[in-house]
Amino acid sequence: MLTLDPSSHLLVLTGAGISAESGVPTFRDAGGLWEGHDVHEVASPEGFARDPLLVWKFYSERRAGMTGVAPNAGHRALVEVERRLGDRFLLVTQNIDGLHAAAGSERIIEIHGNLMRSRCSVCDRAPFADTTAYRAGVAPMCGVCQRAGTDALLRPDIVWFGEPVVADALPRIEAFVARAGKDLRFLAIGTSGLVYPAAGLVDVCRARGGKSWLVNLEPPANAHAFDEVALGKAGDVLPRLLA
Ligand code: OAD
Repeated sequence: MLTLDPSSHLLVLTGAGISAESGVPTFRDAGGLWEGHDVHEVASPEGFARDPLLVWKFYSERRAGMTGVAPNAGHRALVEVERRLGDRFLLVTQNIDGLHAAAGSERIIEIHGNLMRSRCSVCDRAPFADTTAYRAGVAPMCGVCQRAGTDALLRPDIVWFGEPVVADALPRIEAFVARAGKDLRFLAIGTSGLVYPAAGLVDVCRARGGKSWLVNLEPPANAHAFDEVALGKAGDVLPRLLA
């Protein structure tokens, strides 16, 4: 049981594992997305420059795959704990599927962006909601640039390998950690602990003397860094852990 007292501040990090029970494929598990796709081809700026149609095909399939997908008991357990803690809760997610917001979480930082938004690959127009699964062979163009007489491709509003995480993410996390002080608690769920800076949050918490929990199907790369490890499915473990 993860005990929280009236001054505890809970920083939560989620990865693809929390959405697995909703039917969203993870990346590195057997049969996961990176088994069938080369990450450098579909999730890097270089890959997009080389073959934007391939990248849009990949993310259009991800968008289409979200039809009918709903949050699960793991997402809902985090909504409940946020209701109890209010501003003493912060959820950092690497997931781009939007399921935390769909479940009702409010204090969320999507450090890798959101699948259901697009932005221009050239101009600085604001990212906008876009659920379109583009047809194969169609590369969407930026209407703002077109009106100004130039051609520029739209891209998914997702952070790719080699790109910095969403601009205000780290300052917001740092501010939360500073405010929490000795009352910081950290909980990581469903993430393989391989992709930074997210994988380093447990070390940030340890450096502050905060206690850390991990909920994951299998021990991830950085399991040794946690004080408590609960192996199992997030949808089974979280409702009990956070009760
Ligand atoms: P991974 O696919 O690397 O890891 C998912 C983790 O979830 C694995 O350790 C699984 O054992 C675990 N898992 C699977 N099902 C679970 C369940 N039902 N309950 C609990 N745990 C479960 O996904 P991430 O760690 O999220 O980035 O990957 C991190 C980043 O790398 C992603 O955001 C993505 C990826 O490449 C970009 O695309 C930029």
